Amino acid sequence: MGAALRHDSALKHATGEARFLDDAPEPPGLLHAALALSPVAHGRILALDPAPALALPGVVAVLLPRDIPGRNDIAAAGANEVMLAEGIVEYAGQPLAVVVGETRDAALAGAAALAPEIAPLPPVLSIEEAIAREAWILPPQSITRGDVGEALANAPYRLAGEFRAGGQEHFYLEGQIALATPGEDGDIAVQSSTQHPTEVQHVVARVLGLDYNRVTVATRRMGGGFGGKESNASWVAAAAALAARRTGRPVKLRLSRKADMAATGKRHPFLYRWTAGCDASGRILALDAIMAADAGHSLDMTGGVIFRAITHALGPCDVPALSLRALACKTNTVSNTAFRGFGGPQGALLIEDVVHRVADALGVPPDVVRERNFAGGGNGTETPYGQHLEGDLIRRVWAEAKRDSDWDAKRAEITAFNAKHPLLRRGLGSMVLAFGISFGQMHMNQAGALVHVYTDGSIRLNHGGTEMGQGLFIKIAQVVADVFGVDPDRIAITATTTAEVPNTSPTAASTGSDLNGWAAHAAASAIRTRMAEVAAAEWGVAPGDIAFADGMVRAGGNRAMTFGELAKLSYMRRVSLSATGFYKTPDIHWDRATMRGQPFFYFSYGAAVAEVAVDTLTGEHRCLGAWLVQDCGRSLNPAVDRGQVEGAFVQGLGWLTCEDLWWDAEGRLRTLGPSTYKIPGSRDVPPVFSTRLLEGAPARSETIFRSKAVGEPPLLLATAVWNALKDAIGTDRLDAPATPERVLMALRGRR
Ligand code: MTE
Ligand code: MOS
Repeated sequence: MGAALRHDSALKHATGEARFLDDAPEPPGLLHAALALSPVAHGRILALDPAPALALPGVVAVLLPRDIPGRNDIAAAGANEVMLAEGIVEYAGQPLAVVVGETRDAALAGAAALAPEIAPLPPVLSIEEAIAREAWILPPQSITRGDVGEALANAPYRLAGEFRAGGQEHFYLEGQIALATPGEDGDIAVQSSTQHPTEVQHVVARVLGLDYNRVTVATRRMGGGFGGKESNASWVAAAAALAARRTGRPVKLRLSRKADMAATGKRHPFLYRWTAGCDASGRILALDAIMAADAGHSLDMTGGVIFRAITHALGPCDVPALSLRALACKTNTVSNTAFRGFGGPQGALLIEDVVHRVADALGVPPDVVRERNFAGGGNGTETPYGQHLEGDLIRRVWAEAKRDSDWDAKRAEITAFNAKHPLLRRGLGSMVLAFGISFGQMHMNQAGALVHVYTDGSIRLNHGGTEMGQGLFIKIAQVVADVFGVDPDRIAITATTTAEVPNTSPTAASTGSDLNGWAAHAAASAIRTRMAEVAAAEWGVAPGDIAFADGMVRAGGNRAMTFGELAKLSYMRRVSLSATGFYKTPDIHWDRATMRGQPFFYFSYGAAVAEVAVDTLTGEHRCLGAWLVQDCGRSLNPAVDRGQVEGAFVQGLGWLTCEDLWWDAEGRLRTLGPSTYKIPGSRDVPPVFSTRLLEGAPARSETIFRSKAVGEPPLLLATAVWNALKDAIGTDRLDAPATPERVLMALRGRR
């Protein structure tokens, strides 16, 4: 366990041999689908005539809401959410019709030929407007502690702030795609690029009016998901399935990048308003804040996102008196969804903004103010919702990041540099994170696995987790290899499918290896116990004397056989070599009414230092160096985990510094491709990039091999870059993303 093995598909990714859904051989008779999208943000549909599309060569069908045999409802979390707009359109980019063609070009031409008649209605396009109208998609969530009004009144210093953070497009390399193949008896088989095969199964069944057992969904791998394929993949698959049902032929729907960016949800943009009270040392005594999330037009997973924002709004800090209100604003924009961190990164920006403004007001360095407010060490350790943070670990990750970056020397160097360079300015920033691991929906914290051992000793592993590039499959294979004492290459890694492991949770909330690791461990252990009994009977020893290691099974002396020989022997003794495994996270609970409980199994911690350079004439900037320390407990696979830390940091850097979603006055998103929407490229990776996993990190013994989750938390580390930019340009307000334009405007405001 804990070997730094490469990702099982690393070479295949690099050579192009890894098969993504669009690379799979196409079934005979395959048709292609395309979506007709609403050109307006809000309006009443007066007419949508399919004739212009049907008149084109190669167009086979135009499917409208009336063609849906089941329910026009793709909701992930209960409420009604339509797959195809019915009566009213709620955002520009909303799917209106599915056009099916003999070729993809024919389907796209058909979709473009449709000219819906829509009577425009006034759209709500900003968070401010939604707040003014009290247009909520969900009731606000609040967490309070103590008497914040009194604490504010009594605090020696009071200050207030407002800022915003933009959304983020997932920009997975492989766009949304599904292929649906109709079978006998109304059955349907769906291949989907999804983080949540079970939800695809449910939504396809709901739209087609089928029992769940008629729908089988499989996912071998995704070319990235990042949360964008948690709920959005379901309606893409349902649209393909609808077309397959209506035509009786297999149908593939692959969204173009433009359609993908227009029609699918993104990270929630946030607006923050707060008042804080502190003392002269920078200790924050009271915080009264609202965090308003732009949910877009429908619920999707916004409830979970604001829950995570509100529970992560203090980061690693303790604030004795507070009132936090999270608003879920309904606007006429695309329905925002899960994105790496799931509201956690947005939550963490709140305390960072407060810390930096307190620092600015008092003339104390921000890292000192943050440290002054760390949980533990004289401050409280209890979060306002009742769970405890580990102050010693918080201090440890921060001390190590400071040491790795040579913080004091770096600070002196930067001061000297800035004294000599009037136009180029350097800055230093830091970040410390505490991220709770577990799904906010308690019931989702469960997983299943299915393991078969064949009579040659080769092993087939299946579990509910999906592979999106994060290295889940190799980690779970390592767990099973460890149980059987064999090499991981004895294990066949197989596609996730609802037919093998049912009723699964999405691969999300960074819980993939925690949950599926234990489920696979349980399945493999059940088989090993039976095999040990066979060996024990064979050798006349106790089952407890049997050891599995190095591909061998031994019982002391010269009693040994290969794992394969024991598999064969077990078969001959008529012992089952197949088992399911199940796991549910213990000890977690949450009371929605009081907003208190133990929602997280544990916290993962991390710290970062970043150095930036800013050109004060253009606002352009670069991250010159980043020093990251991430707590992964005892890492299952340090190579994979370090890759996650690096990738998450760069993705966070994109969110906070260059990825700018821009809607026009009519509510149409105009940044619909890489030419107008800038994601970080290889040259945005800091030239000095030190990522380290915290060594000897303690973790609960109940986690799988004492490891900790890694998928999302390190995205928050990129906040160090945002903080470094403020340091460089000497501003206390910098909205995210801090694009060159925004940096330039902040500099102008400063002058
Ligand atoms: N890494 C890669 N390469 N691609 C992805 O799509 N998704 C992230 C993270 N790391 C993602 C990734 C997100 S949003 C989550 S929740 C976790 O992986 C999910 O996988 P895990 O639970 O196995 O960590
Ligand atoms: Mo990750 S946002 O939980 O898919």
